Amino acid sequence: MLEATVARRAAHLARPAHADGGSAISFDSGYAFPGTLPDLSAAAERALGAYRREALQYGPRFGLPDMREWIATLMCDDGANVVPGDVLVTNGAKHGIELFCRLFTEEGDTIVVSAPTYFTAIPIFRSFGLGFVEVAQDGEGIEVDTLRQQLHERERQGLEPPKFIYNVTDFHNPSGITMSRRRREALVALATERQIPVLEDSPYRKLRFEGQQEPSLKSLDSAGVVFALGTVSKIMAPGLRIGWVAGPRPLIARMGQLKSDGGTCPLTQRVVLEFSKGGGLVPHLRRVTQTYADNRDRMVAAVRRELPDVTLAIPQGGYYLWLHFPAGTDTDALAERAHDAGVSVIGGSAFFAGESVCLLRDQRRYMRLAFSHATHVEIDEGVRRLAAAYGSSRT
Ligand SMILES: Cc1ncc(COP(=O)(O)O)c(C=O)c1O
Repeated sequence: MLEATVARRAAHLARPAHADGGSAISFDSGYAFPGTLPDLSAAAERALGAYRREALQYGPRFGLPDMREWIATLMCDDGANVVPGDVLVTNGAKHGIELFCRLFTEEGDTIVVSAPTYFTAIPIFRSFGLGFVEVAQDGEGIEVDTLRQQLHERERQGLEPPKFIYNVTDFHNPSGITMSRRRREALVALATERQIPVLEDSPYRKLRFEGQQEPSLKSLDSAGVVFALGTVSKIMAPGLRIGWVAGPRPLIARMGQLKSDGGTCPLTQRVVLEFSKGGGLVPHLRRVTQTYADNRDRMVAAVRRELPDVTLAIPQGGYYLWLHFPAGTDTDALAERAHDAGVSVIGGSAFFAGESVCLLRDQRRYMRLAFSHATHVEIDEGVRRLAAAYGSSRT
């Protein structure tokens, strides 16, 4: 083994969790339901035939012009005012998060995240040496009045303002909460007043099972403070690794200069375009949404049956249930036992950036279950195994 000291940005990071995959039923990952992965063979054939010279060449730094236009149209149809020049195509949304950090932060800076937050983003933020202002959520999303007070308090203490606000707006991962309209307006207003950029990450937005769509933060922003992340991972397939960041053009232009991957794969971009332009996306989305709505219902029923002590708010879309266990439960330890019993889940503490003492008390009473990946039979059996692990911890 090489005896070298890794960089500080890597030394900060926690050791990776279970990597065995194994035979456990998986409620831990945001994987797509395998039966919903679209057949892209005709689109790929066209991409490799009619578009071979483009598809197999280095791609343009900002993405294929057709792709940038497709994304801008998608966003305009969703109420935002975006032109192709505002869009940078990335290798998935997580790549967008990384580029955003590269553009806006220095080691030692602070950013705002909700508590809980998207747990895969936490190590990305940590790798940039960032600290966190954690803000609780209620049923309407991140508590903007609390954030206002926290910003005020930092100012009073002579601390630098946070460099940006990271927010998962719709069907939050992990809490499933969708922000109310008035909270969205309040967040955009506060960010505008304080001139703090907002990174809106909303990969599940189109996976709505019921209820009314609220305007995106991006569509409410007339001052150019909101950057929107996007991805085809949840609307098409995560393996494609196509995402984007859309924001004010001069800053997107700088972000593009920090992107050193030789251009996001043009072949995959063209496959996405051909699939969508061939009319495949709309019926696919309908099918996917129905599958996840059915999975959600099945898992909610299983949790109510097997875990009557647990409370949960039913999400109107997305991939996740966020369970709240009775006082005294340690969901990190429960996740270990559940894993031994053949179901993988993620205990609460993984979803908290972890620096606000007041928020630490309760986090191990939460647990995230993904209903996206399992079959109905697996959902029933997996929840039964989880309940058995929970029951054995209480005897
Ligand atoms: C909130 C959030 N952002 C980003 C992603 C990942 O997107 P991508 O696959 O495009 O990197 C996920 C996937 O689980 C997510 O839940």
